[in-house]
Amino acid sequence: CGITGYIGNESCSTIVAQCLKNLEYRGYDSAGIALLDDSLEVNKRSGEIDNLTVPSTSNATCGIGHTRWSTHGAPTERNAHPHTDCTERIAVVHNGIIDNYEEFKTDLLDEHQFTSETDTEVIAHLIEEALNEDGVDLREAVERVVSKLSGSFAIAVTAVGYDGIVAARQDSPLVIGHDDDATFLGSDVTAFVEHTRTVTFLEDGDIARLTEDGVTILNDGEVVEREPQTVDWDADAAEKGGYEHYMRKEIHEQPRAVRQALSGRIDELAGTVDLDLSLSEEYCRSLDEIQIVACGTSYYAGLYAAGLLEEYADVRVSVHIASEYEFKGNRDPWRTLVVAVTQSGETADTLRALRKAAGSGARTLAVTNTVGSTVTREVDDTVYIRAGPEIGVAASKTFVSQVTTLTLVTVYLGQQRDALSSNERASILEELSAVPSAIQQVLDAEPTVQREAKAFADSESFFFIGRRLGHPVALEGALKLKEISYEHAEGFAGGELKHGPLALVTEDTPVIAVLTDETNASETLHNVKEVESRGAPVIGVTSDDDPNAVFDTTFDVPSIGLMEPVVGNVYLQLFAYHVAKEKGRDIDKPRNLAKSVTVE
Ligand code: G6P
Repeated sequence: CGITGYIGNESCSTIVAQCLKNLEYRGYDSAGIALLDDSLEVNKRSGEIDNLTVPSTSNATCGIGHTRWSTHGAPTERNAHPHTDCTERIAVVHNGIIDNYEEFKTDLLDEHQFTSETDTEVIAHLIEEALNEDGVDLREAVERVVSKLSGSFAIAVTAVGYDGIVAARQDSPLVIGHDDDATFLGSDVTAFVEHTRTVTFLEDGDIARLTEDGVTILNDGEVVEREPQTVDWDADAAEKGGYEHYMRKEIHEQPRAVRQALSGRIDELAGTVDLDLSLSEEYCRSLDEIQIVACGTSYYAGLYAAGLLEEYADVRVSVHIASEYEFKGNRDPWRTLVVAVTQSGETADTLRALRKAAGSGARTLAVTNTVGSTVTREVDDTVYIRAGPEIGVAASKTFVSQVTTLTLVTVYLGQQRDALSSNERASILEELSAVPSAIQQVLDAEPTVQREAKAFADSESFFFIGRRLGHPVALEGALKLKEISYEHAEGFAGGELKHGPLALVTEDTPVIAVLTDETNASETLHNVKEVESRGAPVIGVTSDDDPNAVFDTTFDVPSIGLMEPVVGNVYLQLFAYHVAKEKGRDIDKPRNLAKSVTVE
C-alpha cells in the first residue's frame, strides 16, 4: 500500500491525488483521499486511482491519501482507505497489518459502528475514544493508540479541529518531504519527488506532527531531532526506492515479505497456526491426497511444499504443471484437496486446471498474492501470501512468500491430522521465524555474488543441482537465470546428472550446487566431484562446513534448518540478477515474457 499527505498553503486536492498516482506501483486495488477543511471530505473508490473523484473546488490545504493492496478484506469501496470514526471527524490511512485488531474490535463494537472489514478502521475508533478524554490532542491520541497496537504499520491521521497530520511508523516505511511552503508525507520519496528532495526518513517508534509551522518528531515521548537529507533521485529511481530495477528492490524486500506472511498467523510457543480456513479437523483427517497445480515459479514453490507436506502433514501429494493437469484416476474427489498456487491469481493455465478439479467435485484452495483475483472467486478457501505487489516480471519475493505460506498450511494440516506434536510444530515455526534475518544475511553478501556473476557472465551454459528441497530451488535458480539473462541454464536433481546432462559439462559450464540442510548434501557432494573432475567450476550454496567440500566459490547460508534451501535461493536470485545486469538485459521486462499470462 502507499500513503501520502500534504499540509501547506495551497489548496491541495490535486496535489494529494498526484502524490497518490506516483505511488500507484505500491498497490492499485482501491484508493481514497481525505481533505481537511472546516469538515472532513472523504472520497474513495475501488479500482485504480484514476477512478477516484477529486473535488477540484475544495479549499482544503491539508489532506491524506492511500492506494491499497488488500491484506484484510476485499478490495471494495467500503474497505478502501481513509477510514473514519463514528463522527466522521477523524480520518486514518494505514499501510501494514495490525495483528491484534480483533481484540479491540470486539470491545469497540458495543459503542462503535464499523463500516468496513479492515484492521485499519479500529485505529480510527480507538483515536476517537482517546480524543474524548479531556486535554488530549491528536498527537497524544495517536501516541496512546499506537502504543497498544502490535504488528507492522505506517499510519497518517488527520482530524477536524486539529491542525495538520499526525504520522506514526512501526516496521513500515514513512518519509517526510520538506518544501518551502509545504510539508509532504509519503510511504517513499516517489510520492512527492517532483516537489522536494529534502527529506526526513522516520524511524520505528517515531510519531511525527506535521503542521503549517513545520514538523515535530517524538520517539518514546521525547522530542527527537532528525537531520533532513537530500536525495538525488529522479521520479523513476524513487519509484524503485533507489534501486535500479524493481526486481532488485523486490529481492531485497524478502525479509519483510516473510514477516508479513507470518504476521498474526502463528503462535510459536503453542506451535499453532491460524489461517482462517474452513477446513475442519474432520475434513483434514479424512483427506486422502493433495494435488498442487501451478505454473513457472509457483510450480517450483509447489514442489518445495510437496516435500514438506508429505513429511510433516503425512499426506500424499502430487504436483502438477497446470497446463498438463487432468483430474483422473480412481480417486474420491471430495477427499482430494486441489491447491492452486498462483501469485497473480489470474494465470489461465492454473484457472483451467482448477476448474477441471472443481468440476469433478474436488475441494479447492488458492494460495495467492492478489486479493479479489479470479482464483479467489472460484475456490472453497484462500490463503494470501501477503508479499505486496511484485512488478518485476520474473517472480522473486513471491517465491519465498509462497513457500512460507505453504509451510504454514503444512503445520496447520499436521496439527489437524495429528501428524505433528506441538513441540515439532513449534520447532518448524521457530525455523520459519528465523527466515527473515537469515535472508538479510544473504542480502548483505550481495557484493560477493556480484563479483562471481561478473566472473561467470560469459559462460556457455549454467547448471544448477540439488536434491530433496534443494531440487526445486535448483530448478527455480535456473529458471530465474534464463528468464532475465537469456543464457542457457538448467536445473537437475543431483542424482540425474550422471544419467545424461553430465555429457554437457565442460570447463565453460559453471555448476551451482545447493547443499544445505534437507538436501542430502553429502550425496550431492558426489555429484559436485563428478562435475569438478570434468573441469567445471562449482559454486556451493551451503550451510555446511564439510571439509570434503572443495568449491571454487562458497555462498554461505545461515544454519536455520528446514528453510535453508529457500534462503539459499536468494543467492541464486542475486546471481541471476547480476549476470543479467552484466549483460545489459531488460531485467524488469524480459523479452517475450509477461507477468500475468491470461491465455492458455
Ligand atoms: C508467468 C510469469 C512467471 C510466473 C508464472 C505463473 O509465466 O512470467 O514469473 O511464475 O506466470 O504466474 P502466477 O501468477 O500464476 O504465479
